[in-house]
Amino acid sequence: MCGIFGYIGKDKKQASLVLEGLKSLEYRGYDSWGIVVNHNGKLKRERHTGKIGQSRTILPESDTAMGHTRWATHGGVTEANAHPHFDCSGRFAVVHNGIIENEKELRKLLIKKGHKFTSQTDTEIIAHLLEEETKKYHGNLSQLVSLIAAKLDGAFALGVMDRDRPSEAVLARFGGPLVIGLTEGYKLFASDPSALLPFTRQVIYLKDREIAWITPDNVEIMSFDNQKKRSSVTTLDWNVEKIKKDGYAHYMLKEIMEQPESLMNTMRGRIDIKGKVKLGGLEAVKDLLRDVEFIRFMGCGTAGYAGMVGAIILQELTPVVSHMEVSSEFNYSQLNWPKNSVAWFVTQSGETADVLISIDKVKSERIIPLGLVNVVGSSVAQRTTAGVYLHAGPEIAVASTKAFTSQIAALAMISCWLRQNRSNGRNGYSKSADLGMSLLKLPLAVAKTLKLRPQVKKLAKLLSGASQILFFGRGVYYPLALEAALKLREVAYFNTIGLPLGELKHGPISAMDKNRPAVVFAPFDKTIDKSRSNIQELLARDIPTFVITDKAGGKKLSDLSCEIIEVPVVHELLGPVTMAVVVQLLAYEMGLLLNRPIDKPRNLAKSVTVE
Ligand code: F6R
Repeated sequence: MCGIFGYIGKDKKQASLVLEGLKSLEYRGYDSWGIVVNHNGKLKRERHTGKIGQSRTILPESDTAMGHTRWATHGGVTEANAHPHFDCSGRFAVVHNGIIENEKELRKLLIKKGHKFTSQTDTEIIAHLLEEETKKYHGNLSQLVSLIAAKLDGAFALGVMDRDRPSEAVLARFGGPLVIGLTEGYKLFASDPSALLPFTRQVIYLKDREIAWITPDNVEIMSFDNQKKRSSVTTLDWNVEKIKKDGYAHYMLKEIMEQPESLMNTMRGRIDIKGKVKLGGLEAVKDLLRDVEFIRFMGCGTAGYAGMVGAIILQELTPVVSHMEVSSEFNYSQLNWPKNSVAWFVTQSGETADVLISIDKVKSERIIPLGLVNVVGSSVAQRTTAGVYLHAGPEIAVASTKAFTSQIAALAMISCWLRQNRSNGRNGYSKSADLGMSLLKLPLAVAKTLKLRPQVKKLAKLLSGASQILFFGRGVYYPLALEAALKLREVAYFNTIGLPLGELKHGPISAMDKNRPAVVFAPFDKTIDKSRSNIQELLARDIPTFVITDKAGGKKLSDLSCEIIEVPVVHELLGPVTMAVVVQLLAYEMGLLLNRPIDKPRNLAKSVTVE
């Protein structure tokens, strides 16, 4: 949440460049935005509410500039609350992603000392703290920031500029992401590496409790207690094409359409033609995982639903007991860990605050945390002991699409790997080899499913007049029903709910009528006859019912008087991948019909870095 972008150079083109950087980070928050430059010994800023859109900056070009795009936490969406924030003297400018939990006490203290606040944000406190500190301390900017960082509780990624030091900026990180881009003659920083790609692929990921002192020619990394640290430079393996819309009207559509490729990238080099799975990232914990008895998957939103699918697949393949827990629930409950347990965190961004807190909690409970993460070098990747990268490529639209399908594929690979590597494998390798080989066929099945878009568009029209839509599924399709409900709520602002199909008669059906239709996921599997009966129960009560099945299921259900969409037949545990594509297209088409801002739904932001 919130995007930060900065530039420290010598060629006086920073303000417009920072604006371009902010545009590429706007999916992180789009309530308001602002930029500050250091011009002729003065800090000058502009701030605006609303999205950046086609805006141009009115600031003069100068040597150092930084900007911020906001997702409001403290204080409403007003120009005064937009970042950058200044101290009373206009000497320090601060941009911030995160939440300062002790803001009330600090604000009181600073007001007592005579500081005048112009906003309701927690961020402004940091600027005044810097001003206060310079009354007694005259060290360099990084030392000054380290003194302030020690006073802050909560999570933060900070960018600080000092009017009196025009060619430098200082960053501090505790919880929020920050990446520094390295080029000859100038340096950049951003909340997300994708924003740096047009300029450089050489980056330094700032770690928690680290401070970076940046000048056009140098980056120095220090710990919060001022110890010099070695920085390691990473080469980004994404290319700039990946962050463009490629002629698509929206990132969401582009990301839906590129799923055959993103799935291939998730599996590349990891499954051989006999279906054997190799996951290099798990080698370090191979012995630990050989006898694992319980895996608690954790995550939020879409990633959590992928975790639910993964937990079911794992139990189909191995004797490991597994369960998915929503991170925000886990964090404040007392859940037990049986013998030989591990925690496995599923997250696209790797920056979700609830997930990071869960990691700290499992560590304090002496449980090994593992990761399934898309963004390389992200906080979750750094804080977990080992794990698997998703390699789905950058996901820019706020609604998660390609990460979901890649997460399911990766969790299926992890399940195969765990089965292969168990000390007492159940029924040999054939079951995992079968799933491994089926995974390889998935990109083609997804490519074929994408061709169903005209049919899905028709379905969107039929559903768009409903007052509520209820999604139902069994087994691995129950989490898909939850994901479908989430996707439509998020993108189309539609009133939806996801339920286990077997629960229909236990309450939900009483609230259904011709304005509250059902969408049922009913593939050809061991439960098809049960699903058929449930569909008949709906139809008998004149409740409009739409079925999403596979070609084999279509034959079994074709005599029913309801609309049916058929996806290609895949392995029975992988059906949520192909059907997710239908769900995503449906949410997209409904969003279009209802004229929603597809890539940036109201009140949301891509990566949720606050609790
Ligand atoms: C839904 C969506 C959110 C995220 C959730 C977790 O489309 O985008 O529900 O899935 O905030 O985010 P990550 O995976 O980044 O931890």
